[in-house]
Amino acid sequence: MLTSSLIPLLPLLGAVQAAPAEAPNKDNAHPYSAESQWLADPTYGPIPGESDIYNYYWGTDRPFPGNITDPIFPTQDGPPGIDDWTWQNLLSAEWIIFEFYQRAVELFSEDSFVKVGLPQTTYRRIQEIRNNEAGHLRIFQNQISPTSVKPGACRYQFPFTDPISFLALMTVLEISSMAFLTGLVQQPRIASGRGAMIAIAEVETRHETWALIDIWKTDPFGGTSDTVFPYANEILDTTNAFIVPGSCPPENPEYPHPRQRLPALSAGKDTPSLTPGSTISLDFTDPRNQPRFDPYWQYYAVFFHGVVNVSVPIDTTRWPQQEIWVTIPANFETKGVIVAVVADRPGAPTKESIVAGPGVILEQPAALATALLKGGAPGL
Ligand SMILES: *[C@@H]1O[C@H](CO)[C@@H](O)[C@H](O)[C@H]1NC(C)=O
Ligand SMILES: *[C@@H]1O[C@H](CO)[C@@H](O)[C@H](O)[C@H]1NC(C)=O
Repeated sequence: MLTSSLIPLLPLLGAVQAAPAEAPNKDNAHPYSAESQWLADPTYGPIPGESDIYNYYWGTDRPFPGNITDPIFPTQDGPPGIDDWTWQNLLSAEWIIFEFYQRAVELFSEDSFVKVGLPQTTYRRIQEIRNNEAGHLRIFQNQISPTSVKPGACRYQFPFTDPISFLALMTVLEISSMAFLTGLVQQPRIASGRGAMIAIAEVETRHETWALIDIWKTDPFGGTSDTVFPYANEILDTTNAFIVPGSCPPENPEYPHPRQRLPALSAGKDTPSLTPGSTISLDFTDPRNQPRFDPYWQYYAVFFHGVVNVSVPIDTTRWPQQEIWVTIPANFETKGVIVAVVADRPGAPTKESIVAGPGVILEQPAALATALLKGGAPGL
């Protein structure tokens, strides 16, 4: 999800300028709709895996359950299910992704993509991804037990205005989803929930593969293994940049829970290259949330790629007067993504050891990563 080069995601987020669009039914002056309560019943409405709505619906109106944005209140008393926090986090994240695609479906047409030289099928593929994401909303709602609230939609702001900047952000979001799901899948204690999560991650991979082939015309394969990053909530937290502050239904739980509020991390805006072996400066892009470094402590940039991580000592003693520079490990392949954090110990063995980040560095297509950093649209 959404913001990631050392996260093109975060620099993008920092530069959010697009006007926030209204989600329907978000007028707090009105009571929540009765229909939203009917959604507490998992058999209400089209069922994912059994309905073509989640595949072949070609309308611009919001597909079910994206057309019902209110929170769904508990229908039973009792303790929450053991995995409810995880699914609530994922449902809140999914609202962001669903709205991202729904916005594109409303803003663009088949022509918008054809005009910039993309295949005729592009718009339909985006509609189909939007439909898949609606199905994910329903799957996640149904995974939350009847004793917990199922979060509703907030209002969102996305930094795209044209088809290419949309597709660039989409590529980062899809691959970031793949990375955070490798961490999130380690959370559910119920095994079938982990299976469901993997099945969703695979769908995000198909979306990403399509973009690499049809949009960016590159090699679609991502190396022997996509990147495992164990602290999923830290990636989810970066997506808060897409949420209009204060716009969530007050009944929604904290997103994500638990939330560390780490300082955002990105490569410097003018970084010419983010490929392995490149030396980059570290930017902490949120002026209201800056890291604090102990002058007598050794900190590390920890880079995760594939199933391993590599720690590089960094000099923080003269920051912020002097920038922090670090070289991305040269022996990583230029594939998939690299996730970077700043930690107070090599290997970032616990989430508490992380002091800034994560930043998601897109390696494929590598040129897209640097274009996103500059806030520009990449050339096709
Ligand atoms: C939402 O979509 C469902 C399924 O298509 C439909 O039955 C329902 O009336 C819609 N509700 C709203 C509020 O649009
Ligand atoms: C990073 O790698 C080290 C060495 O293999 C390992 O001990 C550590 O647990 C890894 N960190 C994470 C967060 O997986």
